[in-house]
Amino acid sequence: MELNPFSHEFHEDPYPTYRWLRDHAPLYYNEALDFYALARYRDVLDASYDWQTYSSAEGTTVERMDAQLFEMTPMMIFLDPPRHDRLRKLVNRAFTLRRVAGLEAFIRATAIELLEPLVARGGGDFVHDVSMPLPMQVIFTLLGVRDEDRRQVRECMDLSLERDADTPTIPERAMSAMASMVGYWFDLVSELRRKPNEGLISALLDAEVEGEGDDGKPTRLSDGEIVGFCALLGSAGNETVTKLLGNACVLFARHRAEYARILENPGHIPGSVEEVLRYTSPSQYQGRTTTRDVEWHGRRVPRGARILLLTASANRDEREFPDPDRFDVGRDVPIALGFGQGIHFCLGASLARLESRVALEEFTRRFPRYEVDERSCVRVHMSNVHGYESVPFRVA
Ligand code: HEM
Repeated sequence: MELNPFSHEFHEDPYPTYRWLRDHAPLYYNEALDFYALARYRDVLDASYDWQTYSSAEGTTVERMDAQLFEMTPMMIFLDPPRHDRLRKLVNRAFTLRRVAGLEAFIRATAIELLEPLVARGGGDFVHDVSMPLPMQVIFTLLGVRDEDRRQVRECMDLSLERDADTPTIPERAMSAMASMVGYWFDLVSELRRKPNEGLISALLDAEVEGEGDDGKPTRLSDGEIVGFCALLGSAGNETVTKLLGNACVLFARHRAEYARILENPGHIPGSVEEVLRYTSPSQYQGRTTTRDVEWHGRRVPRGARILLLTASANRDEREFPDPDRFDVGRDVPIALGFGQGIHFCLGASLARLESRVALEEFTRRFPRYEVDERSCVRVHMSNVHGYESVPFRVA
């Protein structure tokens, strides 16, 4: 059995491969692509907490990234302590629970605005029409991007993610879109320094951590660090929520009895979000690089090796979850790994939960009976993001 995160067949249903790995190769090595992988829940959890041994500084996917490239706009997700902790502390100051909770009315109004035309049409494409635009609008509002700029930034973001089939290199048009986006964020940051608004970027400009500087003085984020944060939120905060909601739409069409449970009792919706995240994790693994030799299941992993923490496999581990392949919105999930664990635990988890709950509340109100023709759904093909780029649905 082979684990190939780039295989389209694997993307269709990775779970039989994960089960085989947990049973037969809990520490797996892929010689062709030169990476190791941990498949069992306990192992993934232990490694997630041990950032000293499992470093993020060389990227978190199978593909290794050029560390120098990120120096100009560093992102906390690709940093180890102490640099990670400094950024995270500063951002935590501005990215408060209050700020997130304050977005609920806007999220609901946006969800309603996106869903209402679909009621009139008797369906639509759940990803294109709902789960893609919703988190995008939320991130723009959170950051404080002007209404009149949103379309242009959105187009740049989309273009920067475009890839040509069967080509591992990033196409020219995507590179130049990325460059214009970074340029846009730098311009916005310098403008907000002169004229602050209510958004998160302005709050980040003010955030400071006491006594963190070399001279014991408070430190602040540099423009490059704020731009790195905007770019990180643009990808981490959009892609994943889009995928979680798209997966939910497909799963509830497939498991009608579970859909009936959330229709009858909307109190089950928050639990159902956790179950969707466990059952089909939008982020399938977190890649790390070992900082020393380690041993797992009697085999040595050398220092400097790429090792994938297969969180999606861990979330289906029968050693941890009873009947793990059953989709059950009433399940009590103790420590799920869908948002990662340890120092890199998802910064946006509360926002993702809020967006998903509100979207499902408004969707269930409008579409108590719907169906999805899974043959017409289109999957994305990325190395660690699992989900759809298109989910057509209609009233049943
Ligand atoms: C369903 C939605 C989401 C999922 C499944 C998800 C998943 C994850 C995972 C697995 C990690 C850990 C990465 C690692 O350990 O290498 C992470 C980190 C992160 N996420 Fe999320 N995420 C979601 C939504 C969001 C949102 C909405 C935001 C922002 C608004 C966000 C911002 C971040 C950031 C900034 C980090 C890095 C934290 C750090 O390095 O300390 N995420 N996310």
